[in-house]
Amino acid sequence: MLGGELDMPNSNTRLVNIDEVQSTARSQRVAAHSHVKGLGLHPETRAALPKGAGFFGQESAREAAGAIVDLIKQKHMAGRAVLLAGPPGTGKTAIALAIAQELGDKVPFCPMVASEVYSSEVKKTEVLMENFRRAIGLRVREKKEVFEGEVTELTPMEIDNPTGYGKAIDSVRISLKTMKGSKQLKLDPSIYDSILKQRIETGDIIYIEANSGAVKRVGRCDNFASEFDLEADEFVPLPKGEVHKTKEVVQDVTLHDLDVANARPQGTRGDVTSLVSQLMKPKKTEITDRLRSEINSVVDSHISQGIAELVPGVLFIDECHMLDIEAFTYLHRALESSYSPIVIFATNRGVCKIRGTDEMSAHGMPNDLLDRLLIIPTHKYDKSAIFSIVKVRAEAEQVKMEAEALDHLSDIGANSSLRYVVQLLTPSKLIAQMCGRETVTKQDVEEASLLFIDAKRSAGVSAKEEAEKKAKEEARSTRAVPRPAAAAAPVIAAAAAPAADEPME
Ligand SMILES: Nc1ncnc2c1ncn2[C@@H]1O[C@H](COP(=O)(O)OP(=O)(O)O)[C@@H](O)[C@H]1O
Ligand SMILES: [Mg+2]
Repeated sequence: MLGGELDMPNSNTRLVNIDEVQSTARSQRVAAHSHVKGLGLHPETRAALPKGAGFFGQESAREAAGAIVDLIKQKHMAGRAVLLAGPPGTGKTAIALAIAQELGDKVPFCPMVASEVYSSEVKKTEVLMENFRRAIGLRVREKKEVFEGEVTELTPMEIDNPTGYGKAIDSVRISLKTMKGSKQLKLDPSIYDSILKQRIETGDIIYIEANSGAVKRVGRCDNFASEFDLEADEFVPLPKGEVHKTKEVVQDVTLHDLDVANARPQGTRGDVTSLVSQLMKPKKTEITDRLRSEINSVVDSHISQGIAELVPGVLFIDECHMLDIEAFTYLHRALESSYSPIVIFATNRGVCKIRGTDEMSAHGMPNDLLDRLLIIPTHKYDKSAIFSIVKVRAEAEQVKMEAEALDHLSDIGANSSLRYVVQLLTPSKLIAQMCGRETVTKQDVEEASLLFIDAKRSAGVSAKEEAEKKAKEEARSTRAVPRPAAAAAPVIAAAAAPAADEPME
């Protein structure tokens, strides 16, 4: 213990070791879409700009997506579903990710691929339920007792380590300054980790929660704004009031974050505010229905008390024709529940079988679900759109191209697919590099397109080989004992079946 002039924040509560608040949000699949920064709409008219935020063409789909964004922001979309339907490589995934960017990081967005539901360890419905809850946000507003100010002193107090060699940290001394005054605090050493992680140093504005001892860096004090030219840093003014005060703290979490915190064995259950401060590294714990309904009832009561607000986000299910009837039925029911995000599906299938049934249906989805969808079509690109997209992708992947090479690539794209030519960029660059060049020429592109063929050519090659093999076999079997005609029938049926499951053109 140091002298009496030091304050202990709320001396009757032992400071707990609070790791950084960690969200369980999934990392997005953005690598192929890094050039897309939004939907590229006019800020007032909401009309699609011919070229905006990395997007070219596909105007009507982008405008429709913009309308969805507006509806979500006005909270008119919960429990509804959208389907992006169009041939492969027409920007469906890119549009969905752009929707996420337009919504901002306060609205949860959970991307998944339909085939994720097929796991041998977890039930399909469990995967869907978890992702559903990742897509529902809760904004919690709390009045908290805090110490806030600019750090003027930060000293770990060392003592000789009683159990071994070297020194141990006994406590951390922090002085905080505001316009009105300053205060020196002596804090538990467990806080030091979090201080180091957030790289807190003198001159930063921080606050420390009195109850939990959680430390949060707000930003750099703007007195230091001219000192360095750090664009990444956020400068904040010196707080006006006293160091010790009540502050409204707003936290955005998802229901899944709360489920995870609640499923952890330690800690008191049943209080959102204490759960929020318990969010730690996600651990593998089973979240049961009982635990989920526990969270639901706590959330309900917080909402009715006006402390928390539900923020329905977006669950994006890519390649949704991979879902089966069981998954669709479950989703349909979940969409009806009072806690429901907006579900955005994407598919490139026209009419195909609903998985798990023998029924054919549009996009391989059950009719009752199709009925409640808003469907946004995307269309194949023409050469000039492909040209612009390939150009921007080349910049994003740092591939320098000769104009002729770019033109040739877009020609190839117009005859195959956008996806294919985007994939050719890096091989073309490697070929150029092998020849000791920095810039990709038309020859490099040609060579790359010979090394790596597109799906149509590949299917052609396979079909040709298949036919040759069959012809050979037939020739052999006619020489041997003639086979009965019935045995040949299933072969024909099997060959005809996949045709129905081909992507849209
Ligand atoms: N209109 C567009 N403007 C810019 N880039 C696009 C556009 N459409 C597609 N892309 C890019 O082309 C590639 C293929 O598009 P993607 O969204 O994956 O197609 P889909 O999901 O429809 O199969 C991605 O890298 C995507 O970012
Ligand atoms: Mg896609």
